[in-house]
Amino acid sequence: MAETLTILGLESSCDDTAAAIVRHRPGQPGEILSSVVAGQAALHAAYGGVVPEIAARAHAEKLDICVEQALSQAGLTLREIDAIAVTAGPGLIGGVLAGVMCAKGLAAGADLPLIGVNHLAGHALTPRLTDALAYPYFVLLVSGGHCQFLLVRGPETFTRLGGTIDDAPGEAFDKTARLLGLPQPGGPSVEAEARKGDPARFAFPRPLLARDGCDMSFSGLKTAVRRARDALVAEKGGITRQDRADLCAGFQAAVADVLAEKTRRAAKLYLAEAPSAPAFAVAGGVAANQVIRGRLQAVAMQAGVRFLAPPLALCTDNAAMIAWAGVELFRAGHRDGMDLVARPRWPLDVASGALLGGGRKGAKA
Ligand code: KG4
Ligand code: ZN
Repeated sequence: MAETLTILGLESSCDDTAAAIVRHRPGQPGEILSSVVAGQAALHAAYGGVVPEIAARAHAEKLDICVEQALSQAGLTLREIDAIAVTAGPGLIGGVLAGVMCAKGLAAGADLPLIGVNHLAGHALTPRLTDALAYPYFVLLVSGGHCQFLLVRGPETFTRLGGTIDDAPGEAFDKTARLLGLPQPGGPSVEAEARKGDPARFAFPRPLLARDGCDMSFSGLKTAVRRARDALVAEKGGITRQDRADLCAGFQAAVADVLAEKTRRAAKLYLAEAPSAPAFAVAGGVAANQVIRGRLQAVAMQAGVRFLAPPLALCTDNAAMIAWAGVELFRAGHRDGMDLVARPRWPLDVASGALLGGGRKGAKA
C-alpha cells in the first residue's frame, strides 16, 4: 500500500494568497494540518473588481509569508514535506506565475517533487478531501469566478456537463448589490435583503431554461434588475426599502430556479452512468446562500443522490484543496519539472471546448 503523504499546496490564481499542508494516510480521509489564506479584498476595494497587476504584486509579496505560516502552524519544516503542489492555472496570469515561481524555488531548494494543479480540479476534488467521496460524482462550482457542472471520474478525468456562457452567479449577485447600493461582496447582502422581500413581485427571466442541456446565462438577469430599478425610479423618483428587498428576492429566486433546474438535468446525465453510490457536491462562495443550497439539496433528494456541501472555508479559494489535488495526482504518478508553465486558461475537460465566459474574477476555463 502507498505511503503516508504530506504535501504543501500553494494558491494564487485570483485574489487570495494561500498555503496549506495536507497529510494523507492510505485508507483514511485527508487531514488538513494547516491552511493559511491572505485575502486581498481591501487592496481592490476602491476599483470595483480585482486589478490583475495589484493582485500579482501582492501574491509575490505574500506567498513566502503564507508558506512560513503554514509550516509553523503545522509544526513542520520543509524536510518533512513530500512534494509541492501549486495552482498552475486557470486564473490571472501574474498571480499564477507568482505561485509557480515560488513553488519551483521551494522544490529546487528542498529537492522536492513539483506538481502543477488545475485550480478547478482543486475545487472539484474537495469532497474527496472532506468526505472521501468515491468516483464518479458530480459537482456544481458556483462562485464569483466559476459556474460549471463537472462529472468527476478521477483526479485528471472530468467531463463538463455545462456552464455559464457569460457571468458567474456570484458576479451577478455582486453587480445586483452595486445596482441597489448594497455593500460588497454582494451575495450575503442581497441574501439578507431578499429575506424581507417578495420573490413573486418582479417577474425576472430564467435565462436558457428553454434550451436543452446544462448551460446557463446570468448577465441578462442583472440587466433585468437594472431595468426594474430604473422603472421604479422613473415612476416615483427613487426606490423604497421594500422595493429593494423585493428586487433582491426576485433576483435570488431567478438564480435559484435556474441552478435548481440545471442541476436536475445534470443529475440525469450523471445517473445515466449508473454510479454505485451517487453523490452531488457544491463548491464556491454562492453555495453559502441558504435559499440556493436548500433548492439544490431538494433536487438531489428527489433524484436519490447524496448531497454534500463542504465547509465554506473549503468552498472558497484556499490552498488545502490544491494540496489535496496534489496528493491525488502524486499517487497517480504525476510529476512536473522545472518547465511547468503558468496557464491563464486551462479547461478541465478539453473535449468539451472552452466556454464563452467564466466570470470577472479570473477562471476563464
Ligand atoms: O468562491 P468565492 O469566495 O470566490 C470566487 O469567486 O472565486 O466566491 C465569492 C462569490 C462572490 O461573488 C460573493 O458575492 C458570492 O460568492 N457569495 C454569495 C453568498 N456568499 C458569497 N452569493 C450568494 N449568496 C451568498 N450568501
Ligand atoms: Zn476558485
